[in-house]
Amino acid sequence: MTNQRDRRSKYVRILQGALPADQLEHGDEPQCNRSTNPTFESIVNRRLQRRQVLKGSLALAVTSMFTGPAINALRTQSAAAATPMLGFTPIPVSEADTIEVPAGYTARTLTPWGEPISGRMPAYSLDNSGADQGVQVGMHHDGMHFYPIEGRDPYEGSSRDGLLVMNHEYIEPRYMHRVAIGQALDAGNVPMQADGSRVSDQVLKELNAHGVSVVRIRQQNDGTWEVQRDGRNRRITGLTPMEISGPVRGSDLVKTKYSPNGTSTRGTLNNCAHGVTPWNTYLTCEENWARYFVNTDQMPDSNQGDPTSNQPREHKRYGVATDVGRYGWELADNGADEYVRFDASTKASSPTGDYRNEPNTFGWVVEIDPFRPNSTPVKRTALGRFAHEGVVFQTPVEGQPIVCYSGDDARFEYIYKYVSNQPYRRATANGSLLDDGTLYVAKFNDDGSGEWIALNYGQNGLTAANGFANQAEVLVNTRAAADFVGATKMDRPEWGAVDPGNGQVYFTLTNNTRRTAEQVDAVNPRPDNRWGQIVRWSEAGNNPTATSFQWDLFVLAGPENDSEKLSGESLNDNSIFAAPDGLWFDASRRLWIQTDISESVMNTGDFAQFGNNQMLGANPETGEIRRFLTGPIGQEITGVVTTPDQRTMFINVQHPGATVSADEFAAGQINSRWPDNNPSIYPRSATVVITKNDGGVIGS
Ligand code: FEO
Ligand code: CA
Ligand code: CA
Repeated sequence: MTNQRDRRSKYVRILQGALPADQLEHGDEPQCNRSTNPTFESIVNRRLQRRQVLKGSLALAVTSMFTGPAINALRTQSAAAATPMLGFTPIPVSEADTIEVPAGYTARTLTPWGEPISGRMPAYSLDNSGADQGVQVGMHHDGMHFYPIEGRDPYEGSSRDGLLVMNHEYIEPRYMHRVAIGQALDAGNVPMQADGSRVSDQVLKELNAHGVSVVRIRQQNDGTWEVQRDGRNRRITGLTPMEISGPVRGSDLVKTKYSPNGTSTRGTLNNCAHGVTPWNTYLTCEENWARYFVNTDQMPDSNQGDPTSNQPREHKRYGVATDVGRYGWELADNGADEYVRFDASTKASSPTGDYRNEPNTFGWVVEIDPFRPNSTPVKRTALGRFAHEGVVFQTPVEGQPIVCYSGDDARFEYIYKYVSNQPYRRATANGSLLDDGTLYVAKFNDDGSGEWIALNYGQNGLTAANGFANQAEVLVNTRAAADFVGATKMDRPEWGAVDPGNGQVYFTLTNNTRRTAEQVDAVNPRPDNRWGQIVRWSEAGNNPTATSFQWDLFVLAGPENDSEKLSGESLNDNSIFAAPDGLWFDASRRLWIQTDISESVMNTGDFAQFGNNQMLGANPETGEIRRFLTGPIGQEITGVVTTPDQRTMFINVQHPGATVSADEFAAGQINSRWPDNNPSIYPRSATVVITKNDGGVIGS
């Protein structure tokens, strides 16, 4: 009896910042892997082992990798082949509230949060309604691709006209609602009503600020880019109806009041990085969706005991909240079904009477066809359910399976690979290739070898006797299946990238300060890993479908006294960085590295030497790294792509001003006014368009 009122008042205090929420660390990720599959034993001479791995067997493997498709990929790059790999002058670190690029380059902003793109085209204003937000660019830009307007190939076609498609990862409610002015709210807090409810139009605005934007953009004669009105401009949000496809479609685990047959759901959330399919569609990846949901089943009356003790593993292993959802959407004052569903507690006599299974309809890779504005996005369940950072494809080969990779960004989680059962045929390829295939999880051995372990029902012990009754159960519980087969626990896998020259796969491992000295292994070699590293591997025999690989570390990020490049040298003033996150190869094999030092430590203590978050260019052959761009205050740099001619680059700036404390916000002391540079406009996430003043290839 005490509980209902006590809970409500606790929610108010959590959401307004007076109490810590369970596991909540703003944009950061909760640790949910408490499984006992081994991290490797303590390594006697860690430093020696790291050198052996860096210098190990991979060099041999790489020289033999230039086979058919790889060589063809290189031939298509003839225009860029004559230009230098890294021809720009590196820039220093920066704490300024600006974008800095090398001499000879120009950076301009495009598509900031709130820019109208369709419908009534409402201009950006703090007073925009929830419906207004539904036809404006969303908040907190992340992964992104430029689709040439011809709509035939994701990398060929116009370099002056196309559809810019981007993710909106999460929101900063205090910058969204006029009522927040003067309240002591930090970056994750929300304005609440006195009765513990939320204003339903604020909830609508927040849901509509999530998802994906499809925006036609065109280069003008003066070289600048502008948004075009176009029938394909579209917002996909946290409310857009979606199909569930693949082995989980129709499973009991995804049956809800909204979809009693388990075939559909509403919305996509926390869309971090992305993927680009060979058949010209966009994949958006659901990352930290779990805490948007709450399951208060067996809510304890005191702080004793485990509040998740009555959660099913498909909630518990992912970090579904036990007190209140991330933004308290389930507390919307109109009680609408689309908001109530964020409460995944057991309320009815059967799963089709409530939303206990709603969280199971999130954690997927979602396919969107940007050229078909009326198409329904599809959740492709064969790619597994976890905190998907992004998904990156090997260059497709006619008649061979398609192969893609995806990381699970949380501490001690895993890296996965998907191989389709059906062969790729350019003329007919479509999303069905993502519905039928094998999901593998990576095991990195300390000797520089690695194995892909299949997560197929009936194989590797994934049987009913061990808790996996069918493939749908394996996929909904991908993390549990990966635990079971003994995958390697990584330091937060973020973006991946595939070298177009040789098919080598690179992944950022952004940091993991929870790793202890007893838990280090060769691929995650540092305890209390504050700086992160980049791992890369070559599939056995240069065959992307192989079940073994050879790996090494491309770089150990960090300051000069704790970093290491491929050459064995440390990073220096031109190249120090920490917390690698975004990663992308351009067609000329430049590797672009973007950083996401958490706003909780940015520009403080040992992190001060790195300045604001940045982007660097790297040469995959020599390991040379140069700083190319620094961003404004409080943000992370993310999302990177060029036009096919590589003469325009688009990157995203996410969450400028996120380092403003709750007290500073209450006092109106906002430390970033980027990009508007106007004291009456809050900082806004935005795209940055980079061109070279001589019209040349970016980075050359
Ligand atoms: Fe959304 Fe792991 O960054
Ligand atoms: Ca990221
Ligand atoms: Ca990150």
